[in-house]
Amino acid sequence: MSQKTAKYRKDYKAPDFTIDTVDLTVELDPVNTRVTSTMVVRRQGNHQQPLELDGEGLTLESVSIDSESIPEQQYTVTDQQLTITTDKEHFTLTVVNSINPRDNKALEGLYLADGTYCTQCEAEGFRRITYYLDRPDVLAKFTTTIIADKQSYPFVLANGNLIKQSEEGDKRIAVWEDPFPKPSYLFALVAGDFDVLRDTFTTREGREVKLELFVDKGNLDRSDHAMTSLKNAMKWDEERFGLVYDLDIYMIVAVDFFNMGAMENKGLNVFNAKYVLANPRTATDQDFLNVESVIGHEYFHNWTGNRITCRDWFQLSLKEGLTVFRDQEFSSDLGSRAVNRIQDVKIIRSHQFTEDAGPMAHPIRPDKVLEMNNFYTVTVYNKGAEVIRMLHTLLGEEGFQRGMKCYVERHNGQAVTCEDFVAAMEAANGADFSQFRRWYSQAGTPQVKATVDYDNDNKQLVVSLRQHTPATPGQETKQPFHIPVKLSALNPAGEVIQLTDTVLELTETEQDFRVSGAFTDKLTAQQQPVVSLFDNFSAPVKVEREISRDELRTLMAFAPDPVSRWDASQQLFATLIHEAVAKETTVQVDADTVQACRELLNSDTDPALIALALTLPNIATLADSYSVIPVEKLRHNLKRLKRHLAESLEDSIRERYQQLSAELDSNGYQLQGQDIARRQLRNTLLSYLAEVETESDWFIERYRQTDNMTDSLALLQATVWTQHQQAQPLLTLFDEQWRGEKLVMDKWFQTQALADSSNTVEAVQKLMEHPDFTLDNPNRVYSLLAAFTQNVAQFHRVDGAGYRLVGQVIRQLNDSNPQVASRLLSAFVSWRRYDADRQALMKQELEQLRALPGLASDLFEKVENSLAA
Ligand code: TRP
Ligand code: ZN
Repeated sequence: MSQKTAKYRKDYKAPDFTIDTVDLTVELDPVNTRVTSTMVVRRQGNHQQPLELDGEGLTLESVSIDSESIPEQQYTVTDQQLTITTDKEHFTLTVVNSINPRDNKALEGLYLADGTYCTQCEAEGFRRITYYLDRPDVLAKFTTTIIADKQSYPFVLANGNLIKQSEEGDKRIAVWEDPFPKPSYLFALVAGDFDVLRDTFTTREGREVKLELFVDKGNLDRSDHAMTSLKNAMKWDEERFGLVYDLDIYMIVAVDFFNMGAMENKGLNVFNAKYVLANPRTATDQDFLNVESVIGHEYFHNWTGNRITCRDWFQLSLKEGLTVFRDQEFSSDLGSRAVNRIQDVKIIRSHQFTEDAGPMAHPIRPDKVLEMNNFYTVTVYNKGAEVIRMLHTLLGEEGFQRGMKCYVERHNGQAVTCEDFVAAMEAANGADFSQFRRWYSQAGTPQVKATVDYDNDNKQLVVSLRQHTPATPGQETKQPFHIPVKLSALNPAGEVIQLTDTVLELTETEQDFRVSGAFTDKLTAQQQPVVSLFDNFSAPVKVEREISRDELRTLMAFAPDPVSRWDASQQLFATLIHEAVAKETTVQVDADTVQACRELLNSDTDPALIALALTLPNIATLADSYSVIPVEKLRHNLKRLKRHLAESLEDSIRERYQQLSAELDSNGYQLQGQDIARRQLRNTLLSYLAEVETESDWFIERYRQTDNMTDSLALLQATVWTQHQQAQPLLTLFDEQWRGEKLVMDKWFQTQALADSSNTVEAVQKLMEHPDFTLDNPNRVYSLLAAFTQNVAQFHRVDGAGYRLVGQVIRQLNDSNPQVASRLLSAFVSWRRYDADRQALMKQELEQLRALPGLASDLFEKVENSLAA
């Protein structure tokens, strides 16, 4: 395979040609699908350049211009490109080629898996279907004709509206027309046999939209939640953003084989079945919430992504950061805002900060890309959403929506840049975001050192902030960021003190702020206010601040912002662990902290927030504070801390557990906010009880009584993760009950992959032979192997067995599915953060990959960046 070369953002050039319309005819056949593409091509600007079409893994049959075959000397074809020499300005080009969908295990382009034909074109998959200008700034109107065996493929779908359907002999012929010009990455085609859930949505303009959800036969009883979520998303986007759906039909197809979560193809979303199918028996509360969020995400792309798309792939965050922000707001408006925000913060801290500190660090708008598939990252998506959220914080909801309106009015139907988005936000608000733009260009996580003093004479807070952003690959020095710092204050009794400023804007390297407020009303002469900084995680930064445990406990109990309450609990636990690591002792929990946890547990706070506050920070988050990660010490102290809390709080835990059970069990499983929150707390408490509960068949008895996956899985996890004696019997029971139900078995695989037990490596190896496991299906790989790489203690086992296991799988997947292989490889890129022995072992795996013949560009890029000095 020929190696790709890197592309740079600064080298962007408008295309020499554009394509106005495409007529595709696809004659489906498992190993020899024929694609005929008729394109109306137009030269742009005054030049003599030849037309260079992208194409990969295609067999070319013929080329003609304006209905005449062209002679061979007028074109050249390589394994990457078809180059056509012509002096015409405007012509019709017809290309015929063939492809093999059955042998396509990479799941990019057109593939046939489990009897369903399906496409995935983002980012550069369309070139694996036919020769094309496969770049997002070429917008064409597509008409798609699909010819398929009518017995096997009752449903043949493509983007837009069905304009003709007929049968000829044993063939079914369907013609679909998409009226909206779109880039090739939004093209989709599906053929298969499904059950269909149908519904309608009436837009606020009174137009009726047909909604169709296609699922594998027999799955209708798991489809309602996705449909409800879709209707909620359509309504929400009208109400909150004023954006209305634009076609007469919206289709969603759920497939089993898919590399990512879902894809926003115009009018025809393709979903990983995991984000569609859910009923209480097979799906957890979190699964239900994930379905809602991903359905929302793909739907919201219709405006932020499809109607307004990206000029080039360096601008990916233009659509992804904004659409993640939108789906986060959707989930927060429909469910618990605080719980959603805390989960988003956890993702940033445990994954994005790690990426930002490693050899693959990149700005949310990257400058250099070798394999585009490698840039669908937590940085582009989630940090991208944080950057949008900061704009929202600075402008307020009204100002932000004014900016959105301006953005949509200016750029509807265009392929644009992140710069265009920021410019629209500025124009609509008369704002100046010149410095704020650095969030788009600079990689790395800013570190903010903060001190807070109270000036008793002037009755003012003095907040001193200093920012520093460490160097990242290719960016030695950083300019200061524009950082919004939300803050609030309390008196020691926990009463809120109103401040005159609630958002400070840090723009310099060092800056002091004086904040006035109603201090005299709430403080006695001797008292000091307790101040909460970065409320609601107002910026994606790391904060260093001297703060006493007393203050943390006050914030944990009373901070007006629930995210800050949670954050205080996490800092309290982190401080205990870090101290033990530094002193090389075993973690001790002081009586005041135990008491603070007890009070929280007994309080009438939202049970979900109690659950989150009592969940200890994970190793990945704690690891962030070390240049060399002390794997064993972190793991040992975390275990001790959990055990200690379980022992000291046992009575309160049992009591609250009983109380929650009484509330929950009286009316059976309900998918409803308050019950979800109660289950979350009850199951968090269960994980504590498993530390101290010795009575032997309590867990299995509970397991037999539960009627829903949330509770069954919690029981399984609690026992497996504490190596409880009931773990094995429960694992067996679960396997017997669910074998063959792939999405359910993924939870069983994942639970075992995450067990911190000395034989986890061997267990994972053995599970790869389970009849439900296959390396061909990305969901299986993610649930067993990607999950295992998150098991810090066992993946980083000192003898290197974890590395060898995953390294071996990556080499296997290099040939069949490099995109999935590359996701697994992420676990190796930060090898320099570990001790010398582990470094050597991890490096060995990277070097072995480097030497692999035919190394895919996805892996090549990460291996080279990781091994570079
Ligand atoms: N655009 C898709 C999303 O929202 C992401 C995606 C789905 C994707 N499948 C992909 C990206 C395959 C790259 C390759 O969020
Ligand atoms: Zn997206």
